[in-house]
Amino acid sequence: MQEIAALKKDRNAVVLAHTYQRGEVQDCADFVGDSYGLSVAARKVDARAIVFCGVRFMAETAAILNPSRPVILPEPQAGCPMADMITPGELQGLKARHPGHLVMCYVNSTAEIKALSDVCCTSSNAELIASRLPEGRGIIFVPDQHLGSWVQERTGREVVLWNGLCPTHLRITPEDVRAARRAHPGADVLMHPEVPRECRALADAVLSTGGMCDHVASSSKDEFVIATENGILHTLRKQNPGKRFHAVADDALCPNMKRGTLRSLRDALAGTGGERIEVKGEVAGKALRALEAMLRLGA
Ligand code: 13P
Ligand code: SF4
Repeated sequence: MQEIAALKKDRNAVVLAHTYQRGEVQDCADFVGDSYGLSVAARKVDARAIVFCGVRFMAETAAILNPSRPVILPEPQAGCPMADMITPGELQGLKARHPGHLVMCYVNSTAEIKALSDVCCTSSNAELIASRLPEGRGIIFVPDQHLGSWVQERTGREVVLWNGLCPTHLRITPEDVRAARRAHPGADVLMHPEVPRECRALADAVLSTGGMCDHVASSSKDEFVIATENGILHTLRKQNPGKRFHAVADDALCPNMKRGTLRSLRDALAGTGGERIEVKGEVAGKALRALEAMLRLGA
């Protein structure tokens, strides 16, 4: 930890970490947050470098939003399977089949997919952004079918879904929720919208990871069952020492988020590991337009 603090200072680097990172990695970060909060933070960084403890699409987003700063991903193999579940050709096909629809893409997507989209969203602002799109226009939502169906349910908009999903959130089942309720009858169940619909119907609140942090901080309840990737339990416990948190499923772990370690963070800061993530040319320019539309509509 001390070595990491010294390297950060030497290099004048800022460390950003998603709430799904290991606790010890979160503890070394200058900012811990959800995808939206991290995008906003990345845009404002004026340190010499950004070390992004998360998965590739997040580092790509930071590089697009703040091209003047090198963005280093400590674990180059840390991808997001959902982001790879749609190709540019498949999205072009959807657009051709639904001319006149607007394309809304979850930030959990590649830069090429963002470049083909009208607006990006995160799980914290998807509903708001969809409700602000011009009335009468259908929406093509990619790649997550579950967040897309959540947007459809909440806004009543016409939404064309793609078949992407998150393998980690798919592990959370209705039986897990029922068992957690039996074990912790006084707790509120907070669930991420990437969880399938039949399970979401059993939650007390459906929230992004940032939404969960805000909800817990302002709630009069003191016990919660958390139905998302379990890294966030560390964040919640640290932010709310008087409250109790239980994971709905012990195996709700994202193997890609869990690749990040103190060692890879140290190596990235020392310049002996990690990968500089850059997005260039037309793709960067078009993806930036979709991200800026998100920041405008989703704030
Ligand atoms: P958030 O948008 O809540 O940060 O979630 C990102 C993610 O990867 C969820 O699996
Ligand atoms: Fe991707 Fe799911 Fe991991 Fe989030 S939790 S980064 S959506 S695989």
